Amino acid sequence: MANQLIRIKYFWPFISGVFMTIEKAADKIKELSKEIEDHNYRYYVLSMPVISDYDFDKLLEELIHLEKQYPELILSTSPSQRVGGQVTKEFETVKHKYPMMSLGNTYSEKELEEFDERIRKQIPGETFEYVCELKFDGVAIGVSYKNGKINRAVTRGDGVQGDDVTINVKTIRSIPLLLKKGDYPDEFEIRGEIIMHRKDFDRINDQREEIGEVAYANPRNFASGTLKLQDSSEVARRKLDCYFYALYGDFHFKTHFESLAKSEQWGFKISKEVKLCTSLDDVFQYIKHWDKKRDSLGFDIDGVVIKVNSYRQQEELGFTAKSPRWAISYKYKATSVSTLLNSVSYQVGRTGAITPVANLQPVLLAGTTVKRASLHNADQIEKLGLHVGDTVYVEKGGEIIPKITEVDLTKRVAGSQPIIYITHCPECGTLLSRIEGEANHYCPNESGCPPQIIGKLEHFASRKAMNIDGLGSETCELLYKEGLVNNIADIYDLTIQQISNLERMGEKSATNLIDGIEKSKQIPFERVLYAIGIRYVGDTVAKKLARYFKSMEVIQLCSEEQLAEAPEVGEKIAMSVSAWMKESKNQELVQRLTSAGLQLSIQQNGDETASDKLKGLTILVTGTLNGYKRDEIKEVIEKHGGKAASSVSSKTSYLLTGDDPSEGKVEKAKKLNVPVINEEEFNSMLAGE
Ligand code: IVH
Repeated sequence: MANQLIRIKYFWPFISGVFMTIEKAADKIKELSKEIEDHNYRYYVLSMPVISDYDFDKLLEELIHLEKQYPELILSTSPSQRVGGQVTKEFETVKHKYPMMSLGNTYSEKELEEFDERIRKQIPGETFEYVCELKFDGVAIGVSYKNGKINRAVTRGDGVQGDDVTINVKTIRSIPLLLKKGDYPDEFEIRGEIIMHRKDFDRINDQREEIGEVAYANPRNFASGTLKLQDSSEVARRKLDCYFYALYGDFHFKTHFESLAKSEQWGFKISKEVKLCTSLDDVFQYIKHWDKKRDSLGFDIDGVVIKVNSYRQQEELGFTAKSPRWAISYKYKATSVSTLLNSVSYQVGRTGAITPVANLQPVLLAGTTVKRASLHNADQIEKLGLHVGDTVYVEKGGEIIPKITEVDLTKRVAGSQPIIYITHCPECGTLLSRIEGEANHYCPNESGCPPQIIGKLEHFASRKAMNIDGLGSETCELLYKEGLVNNIADIYDLTIQQISNLERMGEKSATNLIDGIEKSKQIPFERVLYAIGIRYVGDTVAKKLARYFKSMEVIQLCSEEQLAEAPEVGEKIAMSVSAWMKESKNQELVQRLTSAGLQLSIQQNGDETASDKLKGLTILVTGTLNGYKRDEIKEVIEKHGGKAASSVSSKTSYLLTGDDPSEGKVEKAKKLNVPVINEEEFNSMLAGE
């Protein structure tokens, strides 16, 4: 009974949708949209949420559910647009209504004084103020609004025309879809900078690197690449943010400062760090302050923008061909020092990717001692034309790891040797390969190259993969070096005796480790598939593959084309999986993991009950689901204690609908008051939410 009550409570909003008239549904959709957008604003613009993430998700789910029932009521400004899902093959090029100009740059106080003098000459005798703003190091965007609703978002492009990326921009939660009430004109444009916070950049970039994807060099490149993604749901996942800094349209403000304050009231995110300055000294102070404090912002800036505040004075000052005369940017010099390049060494990652690293004569740079700098790849080394013993300039810009920007040729020692990129793996001596079109070299000796083997063991045992207690990186290295483990299958042949004989490993840690290994045999197939470390197969892709193909055996039998049929699996992933499966040593590995008792398929038959979350429920499925094949969904329902029905009756507990559902079934369900749910809601039931 209690179970029943909880279910009714949870599904009440959805059930209530069934009884609604279209007018009621429209009102509810409007009310929910407003409530959700308000919470969005509080969270993403004001950073002051008033409800939990869980409650927020529930509201959004309720809205999405209603919209699924009444698709004709979906608004272009619905918060459901933030989740993404639409795919754009090619972005349309559109002309900017107001050209997107750039700003003049300065790098010194002297140049800034000259800028100030030029202004004083052009508006002689007048007093004026400056507005100082951060110069966000992101991607410029122009977003137009019509009657308070978001209309179109266009990238800078060449300044005259850019790409229409509206669908992707709508997923950015700090960009309002619908404005608050205000005295803005029917049509206007607001410009700002799309950025990625460093913590999100690090997290997502690390995940990319972990599965062998090329990492982005900095948050700006990441943000720019993200905006051009075809799949808007992926854009939504990457958590971009946007600060606005300029209005265009028929406004009657006297000053820029006032326009920013108003924009903030209408719902736009405006930086808190905007400052009104009445003297050039104030401006210098602002510049110095943010040069010191820029790390505390959590996102990258590359300088400060200084704008004349009064619009009348701006008009008087006008524009040059390229930029306004009333504004300028003061760019922070990336801190740079010179030092000696002692040598270049090469690191080998888990996937065999080679990373060249410059070993430098230690030098102090922006408060830290720098001994190494990243060189990225062979092209970079060639471009710099490095010789051993060169004096090089090392710079700390947006990136945290310093980089070499230039060689001081005047200091080159006669007869010094150019750095020639290695042809063979520094760890195992195998000839390196380079896939066409890729920047990185790889060591192909996956099963014989020590850092690759140890890296693969570490990955296999890690928390998100097989989660083997007691098998951290040191133990992996020890087991390999002692010759006990050469690949992931060897882990399952280890004995307590072998382990306790090792230095630093008593009987207790040996027992712990063996217990951990034993437990890992229950880890579900999707995580095993992730754990074996196929290039480009991260945890999400592994889930998709496992759920779609259900067993390793099927995956092994699939052609590249068949693999690419799984959701979110593209050509590149399919190729990598297929190549892995074809290798005889990998086939042997799979064989051994199967014999060891690992889960190499999704349990399908009734003998293993996953849960009793659907106990007592009869569920009928209609339409195509994304995450389950037709036969599979029935098995899933049964595995969780439910019954899969074949027609709607008053005994049916839920009608689960996918794409293109049978209208007859939906009608009948509504008539019989059978709640209609979608795949997401079904998954939530399974997850026990
Ligand atoms: S105002 C007429 N304000 O810098 C130009 N731009 O070099 C109006 N930027 O294209 C731009 N932060 O992408 C302005 N607070 C800020 C800015 C900013 C970053 C970028 C923007 C612009 C470029 C100009």
